[in-house]
Amino acid sequence: MAVTVDHEPLLSASEVQALFNPLDYALGLPGRVYSDGRYWEAERERIFKDDWFAVGYASDVPNLGDVLPVTVAGYELVLVRGSDNEVRCFHNLCRHRGTKLVLKPANVRNITCGWHCWSYSLKGELLNTPIIAGPRTREHPSFQKPDLGLVPVASRLWHDAVFVNISGSGRPFEGITGVLDDLFARYQPGQFDLEHPVRHVDTVLKINWKLYHEGGLEGYHLPFVHPALEQPDRYEVHNDHATFSSLTGTLSKYKRLGAWVDQANDLVSLNAAAAAADRHGKKIPYTIAFITPTLVFAVWPEAIVSTMLRPLSATETGVRRNLYFIGASATSDEAAAARAKYLEIWEGITAEDADYSQGVQSLSAQRDEVGVSTRFSPYWESAVHKFQQRIATKAYRAGLNCK
Ligand code: FES
Ligand SMILES: [Fe+2]
Repeated sequence: MAVTVDHEPLLSASEVQALFNPLDYALGLPGRVYSDGRYWEAERERIFKDDWFAVGYASDVPNLGDVLPVTVAGYELVLVRGSDNEVRCFHNLCRHRGTKLVLKPANVRNITCGWHCWSYSLKGELLNTPIIAGPRTREHPSFQKPDLGLVPVASRLWHDAVFVNISGSGRPFEGITGVLDDLFARYQPGQFDLEHPVRHVDTVLKINWKLYHEGGLEGYHLPFVHPALEQPDRYEVHNDHATFSSLTGTLSKYKRLGAWVDQANDLVSLNAAAAAADRHGKKIPYTIAFITPTLVFAVWPEAIVSTMLRPLSATETGVRRNLYFIGASATSDEAAAARAKYLEIWEGITAEDADYSQGVQSLSAQRDEVGVSTRFSPYWESAVHKFQQRIATKAYRAGLNCK
C-alpha cells in the first residue's frame, strides 16, 4: 500500500516495508524527507501543530513585562511574562491588519503595534485603538475590545522549558510529563537552579530538525567523534513511549569531565544520584530524553543540559542550549571558571556533531539519486530506527497497516 497525502505518495510501499523491516535489515528514510517541502508541511501539520512542543525558556523572559518573539516551524509566536509573573504565549499577530506585533525582545508595560498603535495588555487584552474613528477618537462601536485580544496559544512549563500546543487539540500535557517525571525522579531535578542558566549561543545549522535527533539518539559515534565523552559501558534505550525516546547511560568511571572538575577543586556540585556513587571508580548514571520534536533534556552528574531546537524550514534548524547547575554552583564566582569550562566542552561537542549531520543534509538528494539507503547498527541504533518509524507513522501516515 502506498502512503498518500492529498493523493500524492509521500513514501512508496517498498520504502515503508524497508523501514519497518527488523532493525538488522531495515533501511532508513529516503533523503528527500530531509529537504522536500511536502514532508516539512506534513510534519508541521501532524507533529508540530497538533501536539505539544517546546518553543523557549521561561528564563528567556525573566522580568515582569519581558516579551520575546519566537519563530519556530513556520509559526510566529511571542512569549510574555505578565505582571502576575505568569509566562504566556500568543500568536505574534496584530488583530488589526495582521502584521507581526513584537519584533525584538523588550521589556514593556503594554504590547503596542508599530503600524497603527493598537495596544494590548500583557494578558493579551486589547486596550487602545487610537484615532480609530478619526482624530481624537479612541473607540468605534464595531470594534469591541473583548473580541479583539491577542490569540492565545496553550502553554505549559516544564523545567524552564515552555511547551505550546498550537491547535489546542493535543492530548493532555501530563501525558508527556508524567512519563518524563518518572524517568528523571531519581536525579531530584528540583535541586538544579533553573533561574540562572548558562546559555549557549543560538546557532542555525543547515540541517533538517530530524537530523539533530538522529545524531544524538545513538552512542555509536561517541568514541570516534567526541574525545571528551566516554563510551558508556551500559546504554539503555527506552523506546516504548509514543512521543519521545530516551537513553540512560552509565559511565564506568568518571573520566568524562572529571579531570577539570578535580582541577576546579570540585566547585561544581554533583547531583544526588551521582553523589551517591564514587565518581572516581564506580557507576555514574546520566539520562537523555529526546522530547521530540524540539527538546533534548539531559541530566548529567553536574548539570542539566537542555537543548532547544527551532526548526525554521525543511533545511535549517536553530539550536541553543541552556546549562543548569546545582545550588551555589549556578551563581558563585568560585564556580564561574568551572561553568565556563563546561560550556566550552558542550559547544565543542555541538560543533563536532554539526559537521556530520550537515554532511548528511547536503548529500540527501545525491543518495536518493544514486539509490543509496541508510542502515542501522543492530547494537547501537535501535532508537534512530524507532524515531524514523514514528516520524513516518505520525507525519506521513506510514506503517499504519504494517507490522
Ligand atoms: S496592524 Fe497593528 S495596529 Fe494596525
Ligand atoms: Fe554527538
